[in-house]
Amino acid sequence: MLKDIRSETIEELVQRAREAYENAYAPYSHFKVGAALLGKSGTIHTGCNVENASYGLTICAERNAVAKAVSSGEREFSALAIFTGADHPTPPCGACRQVIAEFSEDMPVIMETLQSKRVILSLKDLLPHRFQF
Ligand code: THU
Repeated sequence: MLKDIRSETIEELVQRAREAYENAYAPYSHFKVGAALLGKSGTIHTGCNVENASYGLTICAERNAVAKAVSSGEREFSALAIFTGADHPTPPCGACRQVIAEFSEDMPVIMETLQSKRVILSLKDLLPHRFQF
């Protein structure tokens, strides 16, 4: 799965997630997140978290990227990068896992920090037995 993606592509994906991270709007938690989704077309779709004074309305970076991609006509993906400034690479929240899994059976999820700590897990490992009906 990971071997199907060129290492240059992974680096570009992480770089694009980092750029999206810079645009994060997180005045309440001060926890910025950037995401970059590689579409099967080769297009990279990015997203950042967008918080709100009514906290529950906050949009996660990953779901933002999925919504942007689908709005652009892309529904199939080959990899996802998530960039944060945390001490350790941060996996997507449970809600985001379900939303990502709606469009991808499986793909590598690359998690990277400002200190260049990187972890790569498969979506299936992150969300086994996703909800389906
Ligand atoms: N956040 C994301 O963007 N993605 C996740 O998977 C988990 C959390 C955001 C939401 C909020 O703006 C901040 O991180 C702290 O929870």
